[in-house]
Amino acid sequence: ADSAASFVPEGADLAALRRAAASCEGCRLHVPATRTVFGAGPPDARLVLVGEQPGDVEDREGEPFVGPAGRLLDKALAETGLDRAGVYLTNAVKHFKFEERGKRRIHKSPTRGEVVACLPWLEAELAQVEPDLVVCLGATAAKAVLGTSFKVTEQRGLLQHVGEQAVIATVHPSAILRAPDRDEAYRGFVADLRVVHDHLY
Ligand code: URA
Repeated sequence: ADSAASFVPEGADLAALRRAAASCEGCRLHVPATRTVFGAGPPDARLVLVGEQPGDVEDREGEPFVGPAGRLLDKALAETGLDRAGVYLTNAVKHFKFEERGKRRIHKSPTRGEVVACLPWLEAELAQVEPDLVVCLGATAAKAVLGTSFKVTEQRGLLQHVGEQAVIATVHPSAILRAPDRDEAYRGFVADLRVVHDHLY
């Protein structure tokens, strides 16, 4: 099966992981993508946020959450007193998966196989950062971290544990941008982030 495992240097710090991930060929997503988008943030962050995969803007710029979803995330974090600069941001899948439509690149959801293939990178990041809390943004991240039976709609905003690791799942900021009632979806997201804040402080 596809796996990043053989590309992950053992015991490497985040900087070395990031360098190694740049040439990952653990699955086929590296072929059409521009670059690997590795996690970013302080190595001693108490909070790690996990998204699905980089989007179009992230693929071009090489940093997570710098496009429209990232702007919404920044706003919600600031509103709940969670400073983005103190957070380690990453994704379950490190390459942008897309379909070309004319000159536009349309996001495609990763398969379970692609998520599983990329998991060694996320595991290595979490082993280095050792956060007090991991927040999964959306179902892809939640299923990657909490298992495939996890249901974000039923368990969002509730403290979970994977072994010793505390985890909370919420919706993905991109889903808020697409929601029929955007204000309501945003309020729900902020409510979950308040749970995150209260767990940490
Ligand atoms: N959506 C994600 O899940 N991750 C990003 O980095 C950007 C958008």
